[in-house]
Amino acid sequence: MFNKTIYEKLLVSRRFGEKLVLLDKTGSTNSWIAGRLDDLDIDKLTVVAETQTEGRGRFGRRWFSPPGVNLAFSLAWRAPETFKLLNLVTMTAGIALAEAVADVTEAEPKLKYPNDLILAGKKAGGILSEFKKTGTGSYIVIGAGVNVNTEQDSFPDEIRDTATSILLACGKTVCREALLAIFMNMLEKWISTLTTRGAGPVLERFYQFSIPFVGRGVTVTIEGETVKGSVAGLSDIGELMIETSPGVIKKINSGETVFER
Ligand code: BTN
Repeated sequence: MFNKTIYEKLLVSRRFGEKLVLLDKTGSTNSWIAGRLDDLDIDKLTVVAETQTEGRGRFGRRWFSPPGVNLAFSLAWRAPETFKLLNLVTMTAGIALAEAVADVTEAEPKLKYPNDLILAGKKAGGILSEFKKTGTGSYIVIGAGVNVNTEQDSFPDEIRDTATSILLACGKTVCREALLAIFMNMLEKWISTLTTRGAGPVLERFYQFSIPFVGRGVTVTIEGETVKGSVAGLSDIGELMIETSPGVIKKINSGETVFER
């Protein structure tokens, strides 16, 4: 069972994660928090579920959430109404996650644009950011799922070859409470960097963690439409810049991204 006392001892952030709600089971922590956005202290609230019955990934995919071994959590950030750069927030949370994983293991975590945490070449976690508007404001719900202490045999067949966990990649059991607390500390640092200094430092840090993708062939599918080309880099607000034909650059801020090998 997730131990709140250990978590609270390691939490430095006074902005994120101060009020932790622990659930044995819920459908999706993103949906749980999205139903409470009008709570006054929503900015400080984080929900952690030991298991999710309808954990969601991007593009409506299911997210595997077995009981008691991983991290599945969500928090809400009260964002300016015009702030719809979900990829940038996702990347910011990804940096916080990679830094937290690097802190509690000897692993070298990588990020795959825009939202995957990669260990030893396989997916160990993902982030789902969702923009929500209510009568009182606009919010970005940030949800993260991390395969922490999952054993190989417990992955469902369809992801067994492509998914991994920190345990499998690093060969040791990791303290989920420490991982979550350090994530919150890092998230505070990087969200504050994003809001005070803009996207520049976030992009720079993202490139440091990222698997190489500039120059690679890429296909992005957005609402049934496909954009193909080679990656020219990230724009100054974190859009994927794709050279679709010589000298023609398209900037993409959403969609399912598949890089060629
Ligand atoms: C992805 O890689 O597609 C994103 C996965 C995000 C999963 C997390 S688990 C906690 C939160 N609740 C959800 O239903 N999804 C996110």
